Amino acid sequence: MANIEQLTERFLQQFGGTTDGLHVFHAPGRVNLIGEHTDYNGGYVFPAALTFGTTLLIRERNDNKLSLASTNFELKGEVELDEIVYKEADDWMNYPKGIVHELQERGYAVPAGFDLLYHGEIPNGSGLSSSASIEVVTAYALLTLSGHPTDTVEIALMAQHSENEFNGVKCGIMDQFAVANGKKDHAIMLMCDTLAYELVPFNSGSYKLVIGNTNKRRGLVDSKYNERRSQCEQAVKELQPAFPELTLLGQLTVEQFEANAHLISDEIVRNRAQHVVEEIDRVVRSVEALKSDDLTAFGQYMNESHDSLRDLYEVTGDELDAMVDAARQVPGVLGSRMTGAGFGGCTVSLVHEDSVETFIAQVGERYQAATGLEASFYVCTIGNGVEQLR
Ligand code: GLA
Repeated sequence: MANIEQLTERFLQQFGGTTDGLHVFHAPGRVNLIGEHTDYNGGYVFPAALTFGTTLLIRERNDNKLSLASTNFELKGEVELDEIVYKEADDWMNYPKGIVHELQERGYAVPAGFDLLYHGEIPNGSGLSSSASIEVVTAYALLTLSGHPTDTVEIALMAQHSENEFNGVKCGIMDQFAVANGKKDHAIMLMCDTLAYELVPFNSGSYKLVIGNTNKRRGLVDSKYNERRSQCEQAVKELQPAFPELTLLGQLTVEQFEANAHLISDEIVRNRAQHVVEEIDRVVRSVEALKSDDLTAFGQYMNESHDSLRDLYEVTGDELDAMVDAARQVPGVLGSRMTGAGFGGCTVSLVHEDSVETFIAQVGERYQAATGLEASFYVCTIGNGVEQLR
């Protein structure tokens, strides 16, 4: 957790004045345990909030300006509340601006200007949802301080919509939902079509979740993400002669898919759809395994998930594969997979507590030998969703 006293100093240096009316909010990053590329297909995901994320210090101003600064980026700026538009040069500031725009569109007027200082602890581009965490903390803080309701499911939807429309990134709902609704020591089993969800205690006994960052930057706006989305839409279209009501792959059972997969003419598109349908089923089975304390089975499903993302969905790439291969060779590892969109970013592994040190040393070394890149590792504890700290 960030040092709030130091950040307060920094805030006062940046914006002047006193701590009167200064508030502090926090939203975490997230790690997805299983259920990848299923959210935009109306399927299940199983993410958890991290204990680190974005801390926001915020204080109302006497005018109608938003003044934005960050401890992570040099770039800062001011914008009038009634002149909010996307500007490429505004870089990270487009995320908070997108949220203000979204609130205004939904009739949640922001009645005054604010000074905002952001402090992010999520490595940028690591696939641990730094942008969702900026969006959600901004929405929650502005709604709270403007006297509007703070429904965290609605906040997740607003944040996703602003990322889709204002920032032009066609992500699903998983990241914003996890960041807004996470709970300490729990993972979230979320049905992305209906947003029905269950908080499942993550009782991993003597096993730890270890996140490995490939430090290969991953661009989400990357055309490959959108290409996967349209391949899934293509699969739905080709399956409609058998299922006229079908709108999302997540509406099919594995059996229904298998009996009709031949309707999809292109092998690549068929593979994409197979991954989605089987991955959704894997989430259900892995949550059952977790509930019956069968961590070995849970780890096995993590492995199957990665292999399917590698072979059928083709979103892993050399770096993620090298890290997962190295992880699986360490005794005491029950499972290892990529997490998030893929194409770089992070892996998550379930590692016995006595093996964590060996894991970090050995995977780091083998990964570097295979890719020339230096990995970083975080032994992860599951934290809360967005909250007000002060
Ligand atoms: C990114 C997106 C999510 C989800 C994952 C893949 O993290 O933001 O909506 O699609 O990729 O599971």
